[in-house]
Amino acid sequence: MITGDGLLAHHRLRRGTGVPLVLLHGFPLDSRMWLDVVDLLPGEPDVIALDLPGMGESPTGPDVAATLGAPDEPSIDLSGDAVAATLRALGIDRAVVAGLSMGGYVVMSLLARHPELVAGAALLDTKAGADPQAVRDNRLRIADEVEKNHNVEPVLSMRRSLLGETSRANREDLVERLDTWIRDQGPAGVAWCQRAMAPRPDRLDAIAGFEGPMVVVVGDEDELSPVAEAQKMVDAAKDAELVVVPRAGHMTTNEAPEPVAAALAALLRRV
Ligand code: MLT
Repeated sequence: MITGDGLLAHHRLRRGTGVPLVLLHGFPLDSRMWLDVVDLLPGEPDVIALDLPGMGESPTGPDVAATLGAPDEPSIDLSGDAVAATLRALGIDRAVVAGLSMGGYVVMSLLARHPELVAGAALLDTKAGADPQAVRDNRLRIADEVEKNHNVEPVLSMRRSLLGETSRANREDLVERLDTWIRDQGPAGVAWCQRAMAPRPDRLDAIAGFEGPMVVVVGDEDELSPVAEAQKMVDAAKDAELVVVPRAGHMTTNEAPEPVAAALAALLRRV
């Protein structure tokens, strides 16, 4: 792991050749969620996973904003700008970028604001639409509660809701891993991400404007970003493939890492 200059923590998970594969995690997690998939990627890919602002080993959102000289307001676009700045600091000017859920929102921000960086895009268990008002309000309520309690208890139930019904019934090991990963996050980072996700805009136009290859992956038991949301992104895109993963929920990367690794490997071949 390397951090420097207030940019995002990055973990080089494989050292290989070709256009790098950059992995962006979901909420309320960190880059460890990618390890199951990375082990299964064929060939010699160059793979870097980043921790998004406030999560894992990355600096807090306000520290990232200060580093970038940006307003101190939580936003997915600030996360996207931080990813772009971190990649540039690493000498990476083009990458295949994959994001799951919140990580997918950040990939869409890159498509809108830094398209020159994106050679190919993988959107996993995510959606392009803005949140309805009730969902925004709920995010802000949870952010306040997490901060007030100084713990991540208000998001701990996600250790189950992130999983599909098949995994919830059969994969207590995954429930336990998610429990550990969620408890490892700081309350300030969890609150910052909720506030960042709440006002994010609709990003179907950014998807439609992207010229490169794209894959959209979704678990057929994903209750948070269902298959219909994935289909909307595929329909909007110029060159997107849809991969529906059977018997997996929102955490396809961990519930069914083999088809996810195959989908990412196929995307790398298309770039
Ligand atoms: C995630 O997995 O990143 C979250 O479900 C994203 C969200 O809360 O919209």
